Amino acid sequence: MSEIRRVGVVGAGLMGSGIAEVCARAGLDVLVNEINDETLRAGKERIEGSLARAVRSGKLSEAERDEALARIRYVTELTEFTDRQFVVEAVAEDEEIKTQVFTALDKAVEDPDAIIASNTSSIPIMKLAMATSRPGNVIGVHFFNPVPVLKLVELIPSLLSSEQTQQRAEAFASDTLGKTVVRSQDRAGFVVNALLIPYLLSAIRMLESGFASAEDIDNGMVLGCAHPMGPLALADLIGLDTTKAVADSMYAEFKEPLYSAPPLLLRMVDAGLLGKKSGRGFHEYQR
Ligand code: 3HC
Repeated sequence: MSEIRRVGVVGAGLMGSGIAEVCARAGLDVLVNEINDETLRAGKERIEGSLARAVRSGKLSEAERDEALARIRYVTELTEFTDRQFVVEAVAEDEEIKTQVFTALDKAVEDPDAIIASNTSSIPIMKLAMATSRPGNVIGVHFFNPVPVLKLVELIPSLLSSEQTQQRAEAFASDTLGKTVVRSQDRAGFVVNALLIPYLLSAIRMLESGFASAEDIDNGMVLGCAHPMGPLALADLIGLDTTKAVADSMYAEFKEPLYSAPPLLLRMVDAGLLGKKSGRGFHEYQR
């Protein structure tokens, strides 16, 4: 089996751009896909900004940054993915959109051993695998935001992921990208979001009920429990639309009230107050 050197990333939002950056920094040839020139340009700027930050903090030399940038190409057509050996889908957390991407990737990617992975936060991998003619090659490979900083990757084999796909995806995440892998069964939310989302929703309910202010809720967890950031700031970082989407797919799977998105979260998403990426969520951000 040939070593994975040619990677494709579908979607250049917060997660896709981070995954592309990490792959390019690991020396891989990376193709990044977005639906149009505008979103592609935004993704490119995000990657350049993050690499510039790594140079400023002394983690990367200017020469290494330039090499990483030179390894990334940006395309708007998935038909360019024919020679990819590992493709990771990181589009919006929407089952219909993701399913369409998987069907298109199944047609585009030629290598019969290629891995077609999803960075979904919560959608069962089997639903995506069945949109392809090769469910054995499909697996969940879930990164965490900010991808260049956080060490974890969740590996989620579906009931049909082949042993070869599982082993190659695990070796790729750990040996090639240097991440630590934990495995989860194919249940909405997997390990981390199954624990994290109820906590974030509880913090939103706490704010909604007037129990405490956003600042006090966040300070409580940062200063009282040594979390790097409070739950409301973390929901803002993840994006309130994504937080809601993840909660919705977990609620659809388990029908448990603890996964039910509270009205305040719904109204903020309706209002376009999506957190850090839109400039305002539970806190305000400079853009
Ligand atoms: N991209 C690249 N690097 C970044 C970054 C970004 N977006 N944000 C921060 N960094 C780097 C900085 O360059 C800095 O590196 P240095 O120490 O070498 O200089 C380091 O991270 C620390 O950054 P800062 O000093 O600016 O800020 P903080 O110390 O406050 O850390 C944080 C920021 C890394 C975001 C930290 O607060 C943190 O880890 N928060 C928790 C994030 C978390 O829980 N993420 C998981 C979300 S859940 C998820 O993604 C799953 C999904 O399915 C929902």
